[in-house]
Amino acid sequence: MNTKKNRARSGLTLLSALGVGCAMIISSAATAGPVKGQPTAKPTAKSATKSAVKNTAQKPSASSPTPGDALRQMVRALEMGEAVANAGWLPDAPTDADYRPVDPEQAELGKLLFHDKILSGNMNISCATCHNMTTDTSDGLSLPIGEGAMGLGPVRDTGYGDDAVHERVPRNAPHVFNIGAFEFDTMMHDGRIAADPHHPAGFDTPAGDDLIQGLDSVVAAQACFPVTSATEMAGQPGENSVADAAQAGDFQLLWSILTKRVASNDEYFELFAEAFDDVDHPMDITYAHIANAIAAYESAIGRADNSPFDRFMRGDTGAMSMNAVQGMMLFYGQAGCADCHSGSFQTNQEFHAIGMPQIGPGKGHNQPGYSDGRDDLGLGAETGNPADNFKFRVPSLRNVALTGPWGHSGAFGTLEAVVRHHLNPIESMLNYDPEQAVLPYRDDLSEQDFVVMSDPNRVMGILAANELGATYLTDDEFDALMDFLHALTDPNSIDLRHAIPASVPSGLPVFD
Ligand code: HEC
Ligand code: HEC
Repeated sequence: MNTKKNRARSGLTLLSALGVGCAMIISSAATAGPVKGQPTAKPTAKSATKSAVKNTAQKPSASSPTPGDALRQMVRALEMGEAVANAGWLPDAPTDADYRPVDPEQAELGKLLFHDKILSGNMNISCATCHNMTTDTSDGLSLPIGEGAMGLGPVRDTGYGDDAVHERVPRNAPHVFNIGAFEFDTMMHDGRIAADPHHPAGFDTPAGDDLIQGLDSVVAAQACFPVTSATEMAGQPGENSVADAAQAGDFQLLWSILTKRVASNDEYFELFAEAFDDVDHPMDITYAHIANAIAAYESAIGRADNSPFDRFMRGDTGAMSMNAVQGMMLFYGQAGCADCHSGSFQTNQEFHAIGMPQIGPGKGHNQPGYSDGRDDLGLGAETGNPADNFKFRVPSLRNVALTGPWGHSGAFGTLEAVVRHHLNPIESMLNYDPEQAVLPYRDDLSEQDFVVMSDPNRVMGILAANELGATYLTDDEFDALMDFLHALTDPNSIDLRHAIPASVPSGLPVFD
């Protein structure tokens, strides 16, 4: 893809969408700094008055700003905001109709299951260990430490003795914000779980034809798989019957073992019977009920569409600071972010290669000439098409300021670093600082972490697939863009402790 060309095109679309009057506002804003490279539009009588106002406002003043200056700035922000909101190139704010309906009883039950270690082979890890409410539905680590370890978030250890973890989970644990929206019909960094009407169970997943029937959504389909992974939840073969079934690749057996565990708990049975019309007896419960309940909880807790940007899109032009409005104009204009991060959730739901640093044990894939499995070919490994190598799903940027570390392998420790990477992937890749990775240390694990990044050949291999050209932003423009990304935070998502149950029916611990 020729990104430069696309950029130029989106700049033009932007201007024609805005119309001449609004274009004046933007080009006069450009004088002040933020939006560069836009062709100047001919002034009209209407816009001339406006630009006259602005020109006065922008006269360089040697003295400190007066209350009049502040007022003029506010007027300008509002005008810019209105221009942008009327322009039609902003996405629509999400509404109820964009989300799958959620049954509150199922969500309440899902809350318990999501936090209950009963779903792991050795009953020592739950979904919430890696998607924790105290770390904004992720784990605060570059790469998760799964089954066998103790503790939460950045203080999670790597386990002891026979129970110690065997390797890090090879990809960053994503947040679960807004995955209940219909448009998220593909899950995972490489899209390997997706809605697919041609498939008997309705979803294309690693289980193929073995996938159980009765799953309500792709989110429920996803909830079938963490329990099948040895490093995430199942444990090592020989340790328990779930891990053995996982090793044998017998998904149906694995799900039935876990379902029996849950269904034989009286408290759970009562809750299933209340939440699902087709459950009258413990034998009626299937893993699909478990997965549907978990999906209901994730969808309910994950909905995040009341950020300042949402309020702005809904017409409250004062909801974002002037800086954030300027950042938004860059995002949807000259900085080219919306080429990929488009739509109501800032993702076109496609896959792109942007030269992201690769850290951790790798996904078992190999670049040509290698056999240690330390690479992660992303979508390429799924499709088998080398042209898809190093492509990863374009993530939604909702709540992005809360959900670090960033990137599919969590290589970036700050939001600023991952955004700077986008502005010049080659320079960022060649100067990657491993210190920013958040990876609890253990000799044997840590020696795998930077194998790819310390091999110039492999780094070049990743960069060869990169689709992003360089983008120049001034420091002020960069700050404005960051302010816009912060304006994507829904205040309701900041403190999610209310979404943690006090205890779970199995009696297993919840807060470790
Ligand atoms: C050991 C850590 C760990 C555990 C435990 C875990 N996950 Fe995850 N989760 C991950 C990682 C890592 C990924 C991304 C994997 C990939 O893309 O290859 C992920 C992906 C997801 C996604 C996809 C999000 C998206 O936007 O694509 C959802 C939803 C999810 N997990 C829910 C769950 C549920 C439900 C459970 C419990 C049944 C669970 N996870 C248990 C680490 C974990
Ligand atoms: C060519 C498509 C494309 C463009 C243009 C693009 N991005 Fe991205 N962005 C991606 C992909 C793909 C990823 C995930 C890559 C990965 O994990 O390997 C990503 C990741 C991110 C992340 C990290 C999110 C997370 O949860 O880890 C941020 C922040 C981000 N982009 C912001 C921006 C900004 C700001 C711009 C404009 C300057 C931009 N992007 C332009 C494709 C793009």
